[in-house]
Amino acid sequence: MTASNAPAPPTLVVVPTYDERAALPGTLARLRAAVPAAHVLVVDDNSPDGTGAWAEERAAQDPHVHVLHRAGKEGLGPAYLAGFAWGLGEGYEVLCEMDADASHRPEQLPGLLEAVRRGADLAIGSRWVPGGRVHDWPLRRLLLSRGANLYVRAVLGLGVADATAGFRAYRAELLTTLVRGDVASQGYCFQVDMTRRARAAGAAISEVPIDFDERAEGVSKMSSGIVREALVKVTLWGLTHRTQQLLGLLR
Ligand code: GDD
Ligand code: MN
Repeated sequence: MTASNAPAPPTLVVVPTYDERAALPGTLARLRAAVPAAHVLVVDDNSPDGTGAWAEERAAQDPHVHVLHRAGKEGLGPAYLAGFAWGLGEGYEVLCEMDADASHRPEQLPGLLEAVRRGADLAIGSRWVPGGRVHDWPLRRLLLSRGANLYVRAVLGLGVADATAGFRAYRAELLTTLVRGDVASQGYCFQVDMTRRARAAGAAISEVPIDFDERAEGVSKMSSGIVREALVKVTLWGLTHRTQQLLGLLR
């Protein structure tokens, strides 16, 4: 049997939610239609708007949908780590990240899964490679994402155009290695943290161009605290990275 008609490996899409009651139903419907074999895990931080309760009802009707409830809002990083721990425990072989607000098109997930099938340990849905596009983002967000990625590139040299991207597919072997480290990033710098750890682990990273749509419902949870954490952490990681390079040269 050739690889292309081998059965799809058990796949889990982890979707973190905080106050996504308006957006989640549409996202889940599109996801289930686009990748019917995959399972979905909603990781809800006790959203005040009832997202968790809605997801629970949805899960009761569909054996492919699961929900993890957390006590309160702890940030994107801890939510993903909890979701990954559950998924690895259940034996999924490919674990994906996707936002709940349909900024990531579920219809483009097969492209990421295909990259993993072809050998990538980590496939990143990238806005900043040729063919990647952002639709309807305010200039402020465009500049923030571009600036963050240029800064990451300058200080960490990861060779990844969209290191902050939140649309990803990981091979379970790689993810197991990464989460064994002490990943402590709370906010969106979690994505950069995972990318640098994947690079350090020697992972095959592949960027797949995607369309990123501005959300139509609800609001972004991006905050000044999230930006500050990212700036401080990326700078510290950069200093450590450069010091290690220097020590390597002197050795
Ligand atoms: N459980 C949980 N807990 N989920 C959260 C939390 C949290 O503390 N904070 C955010 N989320 C969820 C949101 O509900 C959404 O599903 C997803 O994480 C992304 O949050 P948004 O607030 O929509 O992010 P964004 O559109 O501003 O940010 C985009 O850019 C970031 C930086 O590039 C996304 O593409 C992110 O994935 C990306 O890291
Ligand atoms: Mn969003």
